[in-house]
Amino acid sequence: MKIAMLASEAVPFVKTGGLADVTGALSLELARLGHQILLFIPRYRRVAETAPKPTRSWPLRVPSASGPIDVTIEDISLCGQRTTARGGVSVLAVRYDPFFDREGVYQVNGKDYPDNLQRFSLFCRATVEWLLSSSHRNEHLPNIVHLHDWQTALCAVYLKTIYRLRWESLQLPILLTIHNVGYQGTFPGDQFPLTGLPSELFTPEGLEFYGLCNLLKGGLIYADFLATVSSTYSQEIQTPEFGFGLDGVIRERKDRLRGIVNGIDTDLWNPATDPLIPAHYSVTQLEGKGICKRKLQLELGLPQDDHRPLLAIVSRLTTQKGLDLVLAILPDLLTHDLQLVILGTGDKEYEQAFQKFEAQYPQKVRARFVFDETLAHRIFAGGDIFLMPSRYEPCGLSQLYSLRYGTVPVVRRTGGLADTIVPYFARDAVTGCATGFAFEAATPEAFLKAVRSALSVFHERSIWDRLVRSGMETDVSWRRSAQEYESAYIALRESKKLSVR
Ligand code: ADP
Ligand code: GLC
Repeated sequence: MKIAMLASEAVPFVKTGGLADVTGALSLELARLGHQILLFIPRYRRVAETAPKPTRSWPLRVPSASGPIDVTIEDISLCGQRTTARGGVSVLAVRYDPFFDREGVYQVNGKDYPDNLQRFSLFCRATVEWLLSSSHRNEHLPNIVHLHDWQTALCAVYLKTIYRLRWESLQLPILLTIHNVGYQGTFPGDQFPLTGLPSELFTPEGLEFYGLCNLLKGGLIYADFLATVSSTYSQEIQTPEFGFGLDGVIRERKDRLRGIVNGIDTDLWNPATDPLIPAHYSVTQLEGKGICKRKLQLELGLPQDDHRPLLAIVSRLTTQKGLDLVLAILPDLLTHDLQLVILGTGDKEYEQAFQKFEAQYPQKVRARFVFDETLAHRIFAGGDIFLMPSRYEPCGLSQLYSLRYGTVPVVRRTGGLADTIVPYFARDAVTGCATGFAFEAATPEAFLKAVRSALSVFHERSIWDRLVRSGMETDVSWRRSAQEYESAYIALRESKKLSVR
């Protein structure tokens, strides 16, 4: 099959969070299954800096609310891309420098770009124009369009409205994966005309959402099929607690929604070969993990000590991630003999709060407020316990990286965390299937209790060893989930019931 995949970020070109890991790795895995992927991303400055010179490019005149815009579609596929693919991944960057040649991806200095609506409308519309126009040449016509999150949701709306006749003649199924309903792409209602869509779509049955223009809502309504990134989250988003106001819209389409849990790129994230970590190890040869821990302590200026548990956090610093719970239990936790390393970027209040702890406990706490891929790998490798007390978590990849690197996760039982971590109960010491620790209520007490049990098991070396190994042996690859996407594509192609509204 030929699959047009649209995403606002993708590894190895541009990443601000898990979305980029998913779009990059899923594309590769689908290619291994024999499919041809056309992966569209905006050509941000960051992409221009990392991508090879385009091998081909196509000028394209794109209609927009403010008149035609001349963009270029550049083929920046990596030649010799690290894959044993039978199919292939072509990466196509939508170039329009006034919108994308900027320092940030969505924002700068913590502030969203004020023209994000125009930026992502153009990205979607340019892709639609290119796909439809190239269809005349039949060279690149996809069998499926796969969208990710609000930044690409307008693509479904354009195809089914402005471009409806051509879409109908092509019968092009559209799948939208929801990575996080907390981010919907909402803009002031008076900006709606900037999408170039007819005003009759700005109603409560369309993209209007309490007076705002809501792009994700458009995707939820107009896509033929919806996926989200874990089975538990697919249920949660149908409730007011997790739906962020869109639960009603999602419930209406629940027969067209499936939870497909994310995997990880097990080649890129492999402690036996990872070029970013100081020593290699595997489930049968764990010695290297101890070296990674000592080197990490050295690199961060913490006392080098094998016996002291090293707790780790790699996370966006936002309320979603439950960092208030971490801050609430820290005074208590830091009375124990342990170390804590935090790598994250985001809300300044969290940075300041963690900084205070670092200043007060210089022998125990290190916080780094940068986006640093190398340090992230070293932390996953050098840590003993990974903390992820998210208030909600659609899937979560960091706990999967932790499993893969033998760092035992302590997670809140929500979304993908509930689906991917088998919690330890004392009786499991015999069966040995547990891979981490979990707690239910989003309270400091429940979290502290879970961390305390992790700390006490840490000192029972044989049980701990079992936990580490079970985690490392868990299949967290994309293999099974990519096949689930594949069967969703096939079912969509075969279905005659594409939702024509
Ligand atoms: P989310 O997408 O909600 O942020 P995920 O767990 O799915 O959460 O993915 C987060 C990804 O971003 C992981 O690959 C994690 O290692 C990475 N990450 C988060 N913060 C940083 C950081 N400061 N430096 C490097 N990598 C980070
Ligand atoms: C979102 C979610 C995260 C998920 C990621 C990739 O950023 O917050 O839970 O793992 O997308 O799907």
